[in-house]
Amino acid sequence: MKILVTGGAGYIGSHTSVELLDAGYEIVIADNFSNSKPEVLERIRKVAGKDFDFCECDLCDKEALDKVFDSYDIDAVIHFAGLKAVGESCEKPLEYYRNNLVSTMNLCESMREHGCKKLVFSSSATVYGMNNTAPYTEDMPLSATNPYGWTKFMIEEMLRGVCAADKEWSVALLRYFNPIGAHSSGQLGEDPNGIPNNLFPYIMRVAVGKLPELGVFGDDYDTPDGTGVRDYIHVVDLAKGHLKALEWCSENVGAEPFNLGTGNGSSVLEVLHGFEKACGKTLPYSVKPRRAGDIATSFADCSKAEKQLGWKAELGMEDMCRDGWNFIKNNPNGL
Ligand code: NAD
Ligand code: UFG
Repeated sequence: MKILVTGGAGYIGSHTSVELLDAGYEIVIADNFSNSKPEVLERIRKVAGKDFDFCECDLCDKEALDKVFDSYDIDAVIHFAGLKAVGESCEKPLEYYRNNLVSTMNLCESMREHGCKKLVFSSSATVYGMNNTAPYTEDMPLSATNPYGWTKFMIEEMLRGVCAADKEWSVALLRYFNPIGAHSSGQLGEDPNGIPNNLFPYIMRVAVGKLPELGVFGDDYDTPDGTGVRDYIHVVDLAKGHLKALEWCSENVGAEPFNLGTGNGSSVLEVLHGFEKACGKTLPYSVKPRRAGDIATSFADCSKAEKQLGWKAELGMEDMCRDGWNFIKNNPNGL
């Protein structure tokens, strides 16, 4: 099978590309490097020990995207490409709506025109909004609290519409919880531009002395230690979930959401202490005010993915911290 991986040079896409190549899939990566670097492609080749084709392409450019589908006989698409920073999406809502919505509309049109109707989409736990109580199940009401979240909400709805109109389409809506960690080779990992917004890459930079201390956003939440609780999932476990979702698309039709998490919550301080253990250092932190828009607790009910995809996360916080440390230690200046 030939799989188009949009956004395959990014954090989750690069790890998934390795898993796909390992499993014997042929892949074509399309990316515009708006949040990644060409070097990642070489790393994927090195880690997987296999070659693949790459198209430098902005998915918002329909003609360029059509050329990709004209050039390859694509059987299915895994669609990672998108902008993902919550804070930035509040400052640049139009850029987020344009990039995430137009790219996905172009993709679906191109797929339809080329008879390709299997899609795995990167959705997010952010679609559970602020009014549900964890553990989140896929049938809970959806909402969003920022433009980024609304793009995921709207794209999910759009894809449900596509599947309702054409019964041959098969779309897995994968709602990721908090992917962290890195490939065990130390060659691939998360490499955000500028000061990281997310907890784990921030801790990694504190550990290599690139940032002075972690700010813990609130210690007065209604959680066991007062800090926010999230469902952190090893990025390689998450990557493997995409292979199971592809299999699901080959055997089913319709649009179906699946939570991909571990089902366990960890607090900010638990992650910090886990990382301290992995790197053998005490990491400085101070408590700061709560971050606007944050909730106390988010974790998944993953029983649907286990039952219907045959997928379950296998790695724990210790693995996530070990592999994250191995990556940043080897790449203190990024990729
Ligand atoms: P990432 O930024 O590392 O990767 C996204 C890739 O898409 C980048 O390489 C970027 O250059 C590319 N891209 C963006 N817009 C494009 C366009 N118009 N045309 C072509 N390429 C484009 O992000 P990631 O962490 O790997 O996330 C992948 C997907 O998963 C995103 O859709 C994101 O919203 C979603 N997601 C991520 C998280 C997370 O915590 N990392 C959580 C939930 C959902
Ligand atoms: N946190 C800190 N200090 C930091 C960064 C984060 O204390 O410097 C805390 C947050 O307050 C939160 C926890 O660490 O309690 C996790 O925060 P992240 O920013 O790492 O992750 P979020 O759960 O806020 O959001 C992430 C993505 C969203 C996505 C969501 C669910 O940024 O896009 O996971 O997948 F929707």
